[in-house]
Amino acid sequence: MKGFNESNNERLGMLRKGENDCHEHEKVTVCLSSSPKEEENNSKSQESVHITQGDHAGQSVIVSWVTPLESKSKFETYWKAGAKHHHKHKAHAKITSYKYYNYISGYIHHATIKRQYNVTYIYQLGEHNSSRRLISFTTPPKVGPDVPYTFGIIGDLGQTFDSNQILEHYLSNPKGQAMLFVGDLSYADHYPLHDNGRWDIFGPYIENSAAYQPWIIAAGNHELDFIPEIDENIPFKPYMHRFHVPFKAFKSTSSPLWYSIKRASAYIIVLSSYSAYGKYTPQYSWLEQEFPKVNRAETPWLIVLLYFPWYNSNYYHYMEGESMKVMFESWFVQNKVDMVFAGHVHSYERSERVSNVKYNITNGMSTPTEDPSAPIYITIGDGGNIEGIADRLDFSFNM
Ligand SMILES: [Fe+2]
Repeated sequence: MKGFNESNNERLGMLRKGENDCHEHEKVTVCLSSSPKEEENNSKSQESVHITQGDHAGQSVIVSWVTPLESKSKFETYWKAGAKHHHKHKAHAKITSYKYYNYISGYIHHATIKRQYNVTYIYQLGEHNSSRRLISFTTPPKVGPDVPYTFGIIGDLGQTFDSNQILEHYLSNPKGQAMLFVGDLSYADHYPLHDNGRWDIFGPYIENSAAYQPWIIAAGNHELDFIPEIDENIPFKPYMHRFHVPFKAFKSTSSPLWYSIKRASAYIIVLSSYSAYGKYTPQYSWLEQEFPKVNRAETPWLIVLLYFPWYNSNYYHYMEGESMKVMFESWFVQNKVDMVFAGHVHSYERSERVSNVKYNITNGMSTPTEDPSAPIYITIGDGGNIEGIADRLDFSFNM
């Protein structure tokens, strides 16, 4: 049987132990609390369920899940909630798996379904009785300038007790309709040989939110999983197998790492801080062509997600965003981006509307100035991961 190796099965067995189960792992306590939404059954034959937007304008949803077995699990069935005689539709999943050093992933399924706006659907994974578990999501309203919508925002989550508190806090607020996630999901790379079994724990960990509402994700440094010493030379390999995004909606140089969506009254551009962004690179060319496509009469809100912050007054990761800022900031100002969300610094910080576009090294004008056309920059990397908070705001290091 191709599938989970022994240690993965142990982990999944651990996850199946029960509700509100806490386990000590190398000084990190992982608590998995049950959700009221999980009343359906305790079958964990399907794992790591998450959804994301499946096309540019929000009429499609990508449903992803992992199983230890390939057979009889390729389908997802869905129907309209509340309909008297609901017609059941089937979506066929594309299946992928990967090896990472001595780890073999389960079968990772991605099924895209295209439906109507503003409708709640129930979905069920697998075929026949492979899962009786029922999950629901609501498609977004049709894109338009006066469409209210509420996003949640998390960065640098991990899987600690603090991460759990962040998730529980978010789940306790019924207003959030979709999650904007700015990067650093599982922190599997914190463990020896980037223990990919940690991804199998992280998947169920976020299910109570991510199976029910789309997570719009940017990749962080902990998604890189790049270790040439053990022949793991493909950056973002585990991440790109597990998290699919709607980048194919574009006939352009978009990629699974940089893409855009429209949702309600917002246009959201997702950038990759750890992919090339210099002049003539695919990401640079894509972004250059992307801004003219934004129609503010249709989507007045223009939001960018990226990973390392451009404006950061913390000691940690100070100026790491400088080169990307030099490349793209003038476009952000010209196109009046409303907000830029970043993570990486495990803290919270919010800027005024400032820009540094006048600085050109020789003119000495290196201090950012107020600029009503500039975005507000928000760092939201305090998701609770294993590395702890970034609490050094002293500037003595820089004098
Ligand atoms: Fe981080």
